[in-house]
Amino acid sequence: MAIRKIREMGDSVLNKQCKEVTEMTKRTRLLIEDMIDTMYEAGGVGLAAPQVGILKRIVVIDTTGEDLHILINPRIVETSGEQTGNEGCLSVPGKAGVVTRPNYVKAVALNEDMEPIEIEGTELLARAICHEVDHLDGHLYVEKVIGDLQDVTYDEDEEYED
Ligand code: NI
Repeated sequence: MAIRKIREMGDSVLNKQCKEVTEMTKRTRLLIEDMIDTMYEAGGVGLAAPQVGILKRIVVIDTTGEDLHILINPRIVETSGEQTGNEGCLSVPGKAGVVTRPNYVKAVALNEDMEPIEIEGTELLARAICHEVDHLDGHLYVEKVIGDLQDVTYDEDEEYED
């Protein structure tokens, strides 16, 4: 188990476009394992590779604590509806803001064996997929906040933190 350092807003790695993963290597498997460990250790529900300084299109998401998704080269293929609610990010510690996202999202991706998978979710999972895919394109949720970014203490379990 290895915990990697989470990059914070202001670090230019968070504003870069990530590259597609073309083959699974030992090094990439290790990265995925470390991302999972780092996400759980930080108490987040998702983490994207650029948040640990790696410009690869890989995200891990677990919105319930027992529903881990590893998404390589994820691509959102369908959305519907709308939800407006609080969002946060491990790369923007101590802050949250209101963001509107689709209420339903379907994405295609590859799993850690580079096999095609499909994921669909509503509410928090839909929000997490959108938030993490944004990271891979160099975007942070703060760009989409309605109104002002708020100071928060993360003891409200309604908050979305990735
Ligand atoms: Ni984030």
